[in-house]
Amino acid sequence: MKPPVYVAAPVPARVLQELERDFDLLDAPEGAAGLVAIPSVTVDSGLLDRAGAGVRIVANYAVGLDNVDLDAARERDIVVTNTPDVLTRATAEHTLALLLALVRRVAEGDRLLRRREPWRLQPTFMLGHGLEGRMLGIVGPGRIGREVARVAEALGMHTLTTRRGEPLDEVLGADVVSLHCPLTDETRHLIREDTLARMRPDAVLVNTSRGAVVDEAALVQALRDGTIAGAALDVFEDEPHVHPGLLELENVVLTPHIASATHEAREAMGLLCVEALRAVLLEGKRPPNAV
Ligand code: GLV
Repeated sequence: MKPPVYVAAPVPARVLQELERDFDLLDAPEGAAGLVAIPSVTVDSGLLDRAGAGVRIVANYAVGLDNVDLDAARERDIVVTNTPDVLTRATAEHTLALLLALVRRVAEGDRLLRRREPWRLQPTFMLGHGLEGRMLGIVGPGRIGREVARVAEALGMHTLTTRRGEPLDEVLGADVVSLHCPLTDETRHLIREDTLARMRPDAVLVNTSRGAVVDEAALVQALRDGTIAGAALDVFEDEPHVHPGLLELENVVLTPHIASATHEAREAMGLLCVEALRAVLLEGKRPPNAV
């Protein structure tokens, strides 16, 4: 008999094929031995109790684990895994895509054309800023932050990174502040009214980490009153809701939590989940990506 597994969201075809090969896929968490979760699914004691005493692994189809109550899992001896490394490049690329779209006004120009507004090339038309020689301040010295720094340096940017618990002052003084920390009690609303006020008026904020690292209402205010010059956001405090103030501002670029959404990364993330399920449920081993 194949171990029963509940998968909380549709997965790429190749991942589904691998799952179906070794597991009996359930329509609901009740009675599962393994759960595959995603960031929008809260894995807390409520869900784990619903699933029942047979759950031995939660494979989170994400690198961030803020949706999983790790204490509740530990109390029940449930292994929790995430998907590090395989999404690092995709997330770094998307961070740069957002930043370039913002400073070169890509989305704004696209909107202008789609409104069918008259336009002409002229020396002062839709000027943006270049990135060469600019300082990129990275909050979060992990894999993704380091990869963003590497790619940004190839574009001629200078970079500096905060370490955990270190004061943010230097990073907040950068031309671009990019967030790559996990969401924890320590980082929730790390970017709020007083930290925004310490940024430069010509600086921009990029967030591909978790929405709640930023106080969204304070950010809207800072963008409206010119405390900072712009923001590029892939994540939001209350997904899928987006603060209406953000939707009205031209100096904001928004994407719907897709930083790791390449075919390559999402397939590799899924296969890591499958490997973890196999390790725990078929081989009785601890997966290398257990946290
Ligand atoms: C996505 O948000 C992830 O944490 O992988």
